[in-house]
Amino acid sequence: MKPTKLILPSLLIFFALAAFFISKGNEEINTRIAEDNTTTVESEAAFEKMMDVLTHQRCINCHPSDDTPKQGEDSHPHNFGLVRGNLNAATNCNTCHQDTNNDWSGVPGAPDWSLAPHSMRWEGLSRIEIAQSMMDPKRNGGRTADDIMHHLTEHELVLWAWTPGIDASGNPRELPPVSKEEYIEAVKTWIDNGAVIPKQ
Ligand code: HEC
Ligand code: HEC
Repeated sequence: MKPTKLILPSLLIFFALAAFFISKGNEEINTRIAEDNTTTVESEAAFEKMMDVLTHQRCINCHPSDDTPKQGEDSHPHNFGLVRGNLNAATNCNTCHQDTNNDWSGVPGAPDWSLAPHSMRWEGLSRIEIAQSMMDPKRNGGRTADDIMHHLTEHELVLWAWTPGIDASGNPRELPPVSKEEYIEAVKTWIDNGAVIPKQ
């Protein structure tokens, strides 16, 4: 073969290898999957405590897998046949949902109340799948691990879960099963320890 004929194949190999390493690098920016015993006991306990909250209906109701927000402890489809993408003034979230809960009408509220984008759907996912999605910049809105830590511990739609108000029938909404302080500590512990997702 003439040396010029080698240029194209070697370029192709070079680009294939480069693409492989770049994509591998990306996957490892935010998280890694535990290999056998690499998850510390402390980090794994923190992961489970954090996930007790993330899998609660106060979060999942706004992170649905279809296009309909859910309501209540049984996560039934939102009243009025609300669907994503088909919103007008009457069905705009903020026509009804204000910056604070309205305990007379039972409409919950927090600033910028809106439906999580489809890439951030958590409904029906396992704890491990939620963590993978949440730490994946392609699905989490381009967030770094540090951004996720701030979102999870400071964002008003997240913290609303501990002051969820009263529903339309007058019953207090259920709180997540872990206190806010314990949850915040668990999130920080998990992320400070490298955000390792347990194997199962
Ligand atoms: C009222 C609806 C609503 C509720 C309730 C809600 N979220 Fe979200 N969540 C959103 C929206 C909207 C976004 C997208 C915001 C953005 O990208 O700026 C989002 C994004 C996120 C993100 C960013 C990354 C990702 O992959 O999802 C995290 C993490 C998150 N929410 C966690 C939670 C947790 C934990 C709870 C419960 C304690 C919760 N959310 C409750 C609407 C909600
Ligand atoms: C026409 C008024 C109205 C509109 C528009 C509206 N909602 Fe609601 N929403 C309500 C009422 C009323 C409730 C309380 C129902 C109950 O809990 O009994 C509610 C409850 C919810 C809940 C339940 C919280 C929980 O954990 O139980 C979520 C989530 C929610 N709405 C999301 C949305 C989103 C996202 C939008 C916009 C896409 C939206 N809503 C638009 C009136 C509305």
